[in-house]
Amino acid sequence: MASSPVTVRDADGVRTITIDRPERLNALDRQTLEALDAAFAAASADTAVRVVVLTGAGPKAFVAGADIAEMNQLGPIEAREFSLLGQRLMRRIERMPKPVIAAVNGYALGGGLELAMACHLRIAADSARLGQPEINLGLVPGFGGTQRLLRLCGRAAALELCLLGKPIDAARALQLGLVNRVVPAAELESEVATLAGSLATAAPLALRAVLDAVVVGGECAIEEGLQFETAQFALLFATEDMREGTSAFLGKRTPQFRNR
Ligand code: CAA
Repeated sequence: MASSPVTVRDADGVRTITIDRPERLNALDRQTLEALDAAFAAASADTAVRVVVLTGAGPKAFVAGADIAEMNQLGPIEAREFSLLGQRLMRRIERMPKPVIAAVNGYALGGGLELAMACHLRIAADSARLGQPEINLGLVPGFGGTQRLLRLCGRAAALELCLLGKPIDAARALQLGLVNRVVPAAELESEVATLAGSLATAAPLALRAVLDAVVVGGECAIEEGLQFETAQFALLFATEDMREGTSAFLGKRTPQFRNR
């Protein structure tokens, strides 16, 4: 049996999902998209998993895009299916009930940047290069890139990246708000581990409420978004973890959250 293009590792509530096709710079073919979808579905359902880290295998790439060799053989009907498969995966990641961190360890191009943008936080190595180069192939982004880049960074940046197709470096990506942090490449793994570790000990139901309020609330009109925030806020008063968090503050001790 062929080996899976995705590997999974667990440590202290942090699940690391690695795209493992380094010989293709982790390009996303259908098999990889399906394996990622299954890996995220499993991480979503497993209550022992508090945080997910997504990264790419090898020294060069997070993901260098959708698989160009596979796309070269597709007609429009299959291409539509391919786009919908990618978009469903990105939406699954964006709507995960626990934080997902992209550790951008090199090229994040085309579908690779689309994948990183679906994650909740992006930490980039200083050597990373990010872009939507589809225009150079006579294409447009097809896994949600036009929409997420627009919403994350605004129209000027979205048009610049998608029209020119020229990758940008990590410093420029930070300037545009496309990544949260840039760290030296040799420190990426440990920086992401520290960040994931701190999220893994936070109150899971409150983390989920933040993700719902910001991701879903952010897609609504302000009145609806505010109502949604109030509903999330009120609901947390029914949790043991909220009593624990507030009591620990008042008792000057570290809270122990139990996902209840
Ligand atoms: N699909 C398929 N194979 C890819 C690939 C991709 N997106 N990116 C790299 N590869 C393959 C290369 O063909 C090469 O294979 P061989 O060894 O068999 O020749 C191998 O990975 C290593 O790549 P390079 O030799 O090209 O490595 P490099 O260091 O010289 O260049 C790079 C690196 C600049 C990232 C270059 O590989 C590149 O430009 N890749 C394509 C980037 C791109 O256009 N991405 C967008 C794809 S379209 C898309 O994603 C559509 C969508 O939104 C859904």
